[in-house]
Amino acid sequence: MCGIIGISSNKSVSANIINSLKKLEYRGYDSAGIATLSDGEIIEVKSEGRVDNLENNFDLKNLKGNIGIGHVRWATHGIPNQINAHPHSSHNVSVVHNGIIENSTILKKHLINNGHKFKSQTDTEVIVHLITENLKTLELEYAITKTLKQLHGSFALGIVFKDIPDLIVGARRGSPLAVGYGPNENYLGSDSYALKAMTNKITYLEDGEFCFVKKDQVLFFNEAGKKVNKKILKLSSDEASYDKGDFKHFMAKEIEEQPTTIKTGIKEYIDSVNKDVNIFNFPWNIDEIKSITLIGCGTAYHSCLMAKYWFEELTNLDVSVDIASEFRYRKNRFKKDTLYIFVSQSGETADTYAALNLCNKNKMKTCSVVNVIESSISRESNFVLPIHCGPEIGVASTKAFLGQILVLYILSLKIGFLRNEIDRVEYKQKIKDLKTLPGLIEKTLQHDNDIQAISSTFNDAKGSMFLGRGFSYPIALEGALKLKELSYVHAEGYPAGEMKHGPLALIEEGMPVVVLAPRDNYYKKTISNMQEVIARGAKVLLITSKSKDEVVSENIWETIEVENTNEDLFPFLLTIPLQKLAYYSALKKGYDIDKPRNLAKSVTVE
Ligand code: AGP
Repeated sequence: MCGIIGISSNKSVSANIINSLKKLEYRGYDSAGIATLSDGEIIEVKSEGRVDNLENNFDLKNLKGNIGIGHVRWATHGIPNQINAHPHSSHNVSVVHNGIIENSTILKKHLINNGHKFKSQTDTEVIVHLITENLKTLELEYAITKTLKQLHGSFALGIVFKDIPDLIVGARRGSPLAVGYGPNENYLGSDSYALKAMTNKITYLEDGEFCFVKKDQVLFFNEAGKKVNKKILKLSSDEASYDKGDFKHFMAKEIEEQPTTIKTGIKEYIDSVNKDVNIFNFPWNIDEIKSITLIGCGTAYHSCLMAKYWFEELTNLDVSVDIASEFRYRKNRFKKDTLYIFVSQSGETADTYAALNLCNKNKMKTCSVVNVIESSISRESNFVLPIHCGPEIGVASTKAFLGQILVLYILSLKIGFLRNEIDRVEYKQKIKDLKTLPGLIEKTLQHDNDIQAISSTFNDAKGSMFLGRGFSYPIALEGALKLKELSYVHAEGYPAGEMKHGPLALIEEGMPVVVLAPRDNYYKKTISNMQEVIARGAKVLLITSKSKDEVVSENIWETIEVENTNEDLFPFLLTIPLQKLAYYSALKKGYDIDKPRNLAKSVTVE
């Protein structure tokens, strides 16, 4: 979740490094720094906070050097401050790092005993001194391979050397790293997004590989230090340069883009003429799949949980769902007839990627649902279902969530039909209903003013609950997560029927509680649960669907009615007011909406 950029050029690099770091801030923004080589010296500038701080604190326009590395940090070891900011440098080596060195403590002790002096609390600084130590006795390639062998844990590295004025070394294990090719210059970056402004030609390093990047040459090596040839990929153009347009925040733009997200997904996967699902080159015969396991983190996990309900309903398969950081360490019983589906917007989340690697190692059937099609998870799954929603910059996921659950819903329809669990008439009807979804979302997005008005109640409360049953329960979890990560107030998503088994004790006078109760099979029971919390003083925001029947209950604080539709599709509509509730709560608090504190867009470390 840190961002790395390196440029080796025939001209000054500081401006391009700064621009790339600004694009990389979605990966982390606790601190930022640059190191360039100029006149045989390493020039290192770094500061706490955003890249803007770096620009305010240093005259970067006059920062000399035709080769340099840059870094934006999401702190893992050592508090976010100037000392712990990357790059870290010795007298002759400077390093930027994304990942976690798990044996840094023992290596540090050994290096201190050998006379090395440390300035920071970071694990990264160990890498600097280890390379410096190894270079005393070994040629460069051997010093690099030896150093990488000594490191335990994950890393993406960018390294420059005082005595080698045009070389950047990159190395990858567990954290993504890419090389880009430009005119009279070449690049190293954490991901393609950082490099897109400069090139559309990219090569990804695989785990264990390292590379030598010069302005006119790039060499790749495997773990043993043997040269390897690698393909140059042309980047997809669907991530053209990106700005907020007239929106105040990327998140606001991405919320409003959701009708387009759904339209794109429908265009991609639905044959409107024949009212059929187009999922081409599915690598397995449907009879080979007897169960499904869905795996993800955060919002992507909520997509998995949402999909569980649809898969169970439509395919009659056994479905399990797992949080990736749990799955990767549990004693799993891998089954050949299980389809493992990995959901990840970035396609680089460390825990989800590790869970995929575990399944690949056990030769399981793996499918990924991703937004970044050049990502590690996408490239290393047997089968990929892209959501095509364009770059999602806001750290809080919105359109990617809807894109994920759309693709998963479409997949459940297809598998259900192929397994004869839903008949042709029902299948065609559901596809027909799906096509009305963009318009329904457009209408739901209009609930703007009423949500703005009620958002401050959530800000003033010491906590809130989000309740739902069945299809609405994963949406309750997602709504609570949005409010937590944007306005930093406690919120808890809970199965409505479960409140009476303990959490009802939390309810007190005036506590805001969101109740998701569309007119589906769970409606009546959820309304009863709603009355239980109202009876104990809760201020209930009821989000239901339009109906000619009145809601049978009094003392509801506020009601929002989404459009009526096929009940499979209510989750899409219920999500919208919850995204806006979190957005307006954070807006009222004046918090950084696109980059909430302590978070990052792509969590590429454990
Ligand atoms: C969602 O709003 C959060 N930003 C976070 O939970 C995110 O969904 C999670 O880190 C997974 O990211 P991924 O989809 O890129 O794997």
